[in-house]
Amino acid sequence: MVEIAKPGQGDKEWLLREDHHVGEAWVSRCIDLDEYLIAREEGEILGFLRFSRFWGRIPYMEMIRVLDGHRRSGVGTALFLAWETEMRESGARLLMTSSECDESRPQDWHRRNGFSETGSIELPGIQTVPEVFFLKKLD
Ligand SMILES: CC(C)(COP(=O)(O)OP(=O)(O)OC[C@H]1O[C@@H](n2cnc3c(N)ncnc32)[C@H](O)[C@@H]1OP(=O)(O)O)[C@@H](O)C(=O)NCCC(=O)NCCS
Repeated sequence: MVEIAKPGQGDKEWLLREDHHVGEAWVSRCIDLDEYLIAREEGEILGFLRFSRFWGRIPYMEMIRVLDGHRRSGVGTALFLAWETEMRESGARLLMTSSECDESRPQDWHRRNGFSETGSIELPGIQTVPEVFFLKKLD
């Protein structure tokens, strides 16, 4: 049974290893501000979701990742649904996420979760392909 929870500083080492793009200060900050959700099964962490807020207001899912070997068994969906519920309860009316334009598989997954593609931007010097943005309206 997968449990979705907020990580504590005790989970920091795992997050630093598995969410290695952002660096230690950002990982610590996101733990302190409750901007992570983790999926746990029998004490083992299987995946995480990290978010921030566009304009300081609109929840923006920056990263969701399930460990190889645990994919396609509902862990990602459990993380996303827990996040969506929390965001709706906190008053959000719109969710955002994004993906590199050539990553068709994560994009299919976002669509499956109710997101629609809404445009893309180029990020010169940062990324060679455009970043595609997705929105989901919450009723
Ligand atoms: C994308 C990701 C988070 C999905 O999590 P997951 O736990 O594997 O997905 P789930 O098992 O919850 O998926 C539920 C459904 O989506 C389907 N699905 C899973 N991955 C999919 C994909 N990449 N594309 C389309 N459908 C997918 C599953 O078949 C399942 O459908 P079913 O219940 O009808 O069989 C995970 O595969 C992952 O970590 N991928 C690598 C990192 C990544 O691309 N992250 C997203 C961009 S930041």
